Amino acid sequence: MRFGHFDDEAREYVITTPHTPYPWINYLGSQEFFSLISHQAGGYSFYRDARMRRLTRYRYNNVPTDTGGRYLYVNDGGDVWTPSYLPVKAELDHFETRHGLGYTRITGERRGVRVETLYFVPNGENAEIQRITVTNTSDAAKTLMLFTFVEFALWNALDDQTNYQRNLSVGEVEVEMDSPYGSAIYHKTEYRERRNHYAVHAVNVRAAGYDTDREAFTGEYNGLYDPQVPLSGVSGNSIAYGWYPMGSLSVPVELAPGESRVITVVLGYLENPEDQKWADDAHQVINKAPAHELLAKFATTEQVDAAFAELGASWTELLSRYSVRSTDPKLDRMVNIWNQYQCMVTFNMSRSASYFETGIGRGMGFRDSTQDILGFVHLVPERARERILDVAATQFPDGSAYHQYQPLTKRGNLDVGSGFNDDPLWLVAAVAAYLKETGDYSILDEQVAFDNDDALADTLFEHLTRSFQYTVTHKGPHGLPLIGRADWNDCLNLNCFSSTPGESFQTTENQSGGVAESVFIGAQFVLYGADYAAIAERYGQADVAAAARTEIAAMKATVEDSGWDGKWFRRAYDFYGTPIGTDEDTEGKIFIEPQGVAVMAGIGVTSTDPTTPEFAASKAATALDSVGEMLGCEHGLSLVYPGYTTYRLNMGEITTYPPGYKENGGIFCHNNPWVIIGETVLGRGDRAFDYYKRITPAYREDISEVHKLEPYVYAQMIAGKQAARMGEAKNSFLTGTAAWTFVAASQYLLGVRPDYEGLVVDPQIGPEVPEFTVTRVVRGATYEITVRNSGTPGARARLTVDGNPIEGRLVPYAAPGTTVRVDCTV
Ligand code: GLC
Ligand code: GLC
Repeated sequence: MRFGHFDDEAREYVITTPHTPYPWINYLGSQEFFSLISHQAGGYSFYRDARMRRLTRYRYNNVPTDTGGRYLYVNDGGDVWTPSYLPVKAELDHFETRHGLGYTRITGERRGVRVETLYFVPNGENAEIQRITVTNTSDAAKTLMLFTFVEFALWNALDDQTNYQRNLSVGEVEVEMDSPYGSAIYHKTEYRERRNHYAVHAVNVRAAGYDTDREAFTGEYNGLYDPQVPLSGVSGNSIAYGWYPMGSLSVPVELAPGESRVITVVLGYLENPEDQKWADDAHQVINKAPAHELLAKFATTEQVDAAFAELGASWTELLSRYSVRSTDPKLDRMVNIWNQYQCMVTFNMSRSASYFETGIGRGMGFRDSTQDILGFVHLVPERARERILDVAATQFPDGSAYHQYQPLTKRGNLDVGSGFNDDPLWLVAAVAAYLKETGDYSILDEQVAFDNDDALADTLFEHLTRSFQYTVTHKGPHGLPLIGRADWNDCLNLNCFSSTPGESFQTTENQSGGVAESVFIGAQFVLYGADYAAIAERYGQADVAAAARTEIAAMKATVEDSGWDGKWFRRAYDFYGTPIGTDEDTEGKIFIEPQGVAVMAGIGVTSTDPTTPEFAASKAATALDSVGEMLGCEHGLSLVYPGYTTYRLNMGEITTYPPGYKENGGIFCHNNPWVIIGETVLGRGDRAFDYYKRITPAYREDISEVHKLEPYVYAQMIAGKQAARMGEAKNSFLTGTAAWTFVAASQYLLGVRPDYEGLVVDPQIGPEVPEFTVTRVVRGATYEITVRNSGTPGARARLTVDGNPIEGRLVPYAAPGTTVRVDCTV
């Protein structure tokens, strides 16, 4: 069952009913100002950091779900409704939400009044714009009163939800009914003391009235679904003194039959330099100059339309760097539009703010942000460069790293600290992706702080060396890397031993024994160690590269030996040196993570010709066959099977989830692409594409009532085959799945990937996609790649470049500005 449809031409998903199985959301803004917006206008806005600079309120855990947002109430002769359906829930004659790239358009119609609101954050602006078009679709004149609504958060989102003894006394606002550009409400809580920033909520016409006090607006004991002011049709002109500051402006609208009117609403974030904070000597009236400057830019509909057109043009430009035309529209819309869009969102948000992440718990994750770069670097390489340097600065001198940092301060987060032993190697992955994309080796010479301390700064190359060396110097009894608090799987906590309720599994180490080892990190070391060596070589350090390769070869042998269980790779060794992920166990026999990454790293790959007996006997093929058999179901590949049914003290959080959910045997989509890529390494594109389709939302659209979440973006997890509600997704949008499925689809299934010296063309997608064309812009040149694909297992590409057959699958980089034609036959 569907709740809407894709509009590929417009690059939109069109939701045709408010009654989706869960709020389906979108993100506005891609630089510093961000808003979350659901298909019912729920959500909130923040500047740079969802925890430290929250502009508006949203209540997680609310009943009903998804109340709190930017709303517009319509009073049509006493009939009060909201075009976004929520919060009033008056029945609509027509409802449609179009989520597009950085914008959302919600249309509601009732009793002859249609209201269409376009929400977006213009490029380069710290503001959410609403362009509201009200149309009289009836044959009688209409006299309406519109009421805007936002509720201000007191900036620090955590404090805002916990510190009521203070917060209910500090709220302050100013109202400017005759602003030069209409009417405006200013939220200035804490501006008198240490803050130099405020928010503005404005309309571009002279409002009839205002409210800034939430209780005056709703009336005592009322909610957002029956607020007194819109019901009465008259603003209360209330001023908030503490309690709950909000913003509402009322706008009268008279419309003849068929007539339309456009009104603009702005929510902006402004800062003043310390010495220009005030407009008066008594320091009571804020300096509104920057707000006026902002409002001047969106005073007319033409200005708003121009800013919106620019947003669309910038997305067209961004998406031109990788595009495919194939016979499969679902593949095309994911690769060309939605997956790249999600990569932008994950790059911006890391795992901070979604409908499943409160924006309070986590800032930017070290391993999350570095992996996000893999799917983002081709979009805006300069921003990837800046991110790499920011992340690297949170690395410790010994090569380990802060697990998270706050985007506002860019400083490591002490609450979570360090000790996740996979973290350092992801930095190598990100830098390798950046170098392959750009060829900009100057980044390796950048001086980058350790532990955010400039006195400890050294080159980025030195950071990579310490990342690599961290694994070399932290090995356990089998010669495998020590796991620390956890590796990629945050829930595999082998030194935690927690029996105290509420203790954090990620930060508790009750028994650090220096024994628990990770096979996953071993494979990861082989995979990214190869990049480290390749980079060292190109950085003029041949001896460093050679020494690294010796280490890598040793680790490869160790993984093949101590990491092998017979039919698959083991997952780890616990605190006592007992294997995890072994056929000998009753539960948790096989884990997905080491299988995919080992094959990606070439471990156990002795043949890539699936027709040979040697292939069948290889550890790589054996491991991936086991994955398919033991972990597979129609909804994807589970993380582990069978899931654990009882709590195991020596394993930590993984055993806390019911079997089939999250890390305990959920389909944790992030790691499915590792197997997809692994299958392409082995020349089994048909299997790779099959696995891809199982988790990719556009292919799941028809079962939206089961999947439950947005059909246009990946979710972190789909309940696995042991779950009661198998196939149900959770945690949409902010997941490493975005970057990794884009890598898998664009670089391995379609097979076009930048390498150090040229563009590799090596499609492995099976027979279902017999023909396609990829356009790839890299290092300033354009590659038009036409593929004829038999899909035969084991078949590899033969290439003609500008009409000349070449050996191998590497197309050398061409001069910027040129177009290269590649014909590929598989
Ligand atoms: C979450 C974390 C990520 C981790 C994964 C598996 O998605 O953000 O860092 O790798 O869970 O535990
Ligand atoms: C929980 C989640 C995991 C996440 C971790 C850190 O363990 O299961 O996915 O990475 O919390 O927040």
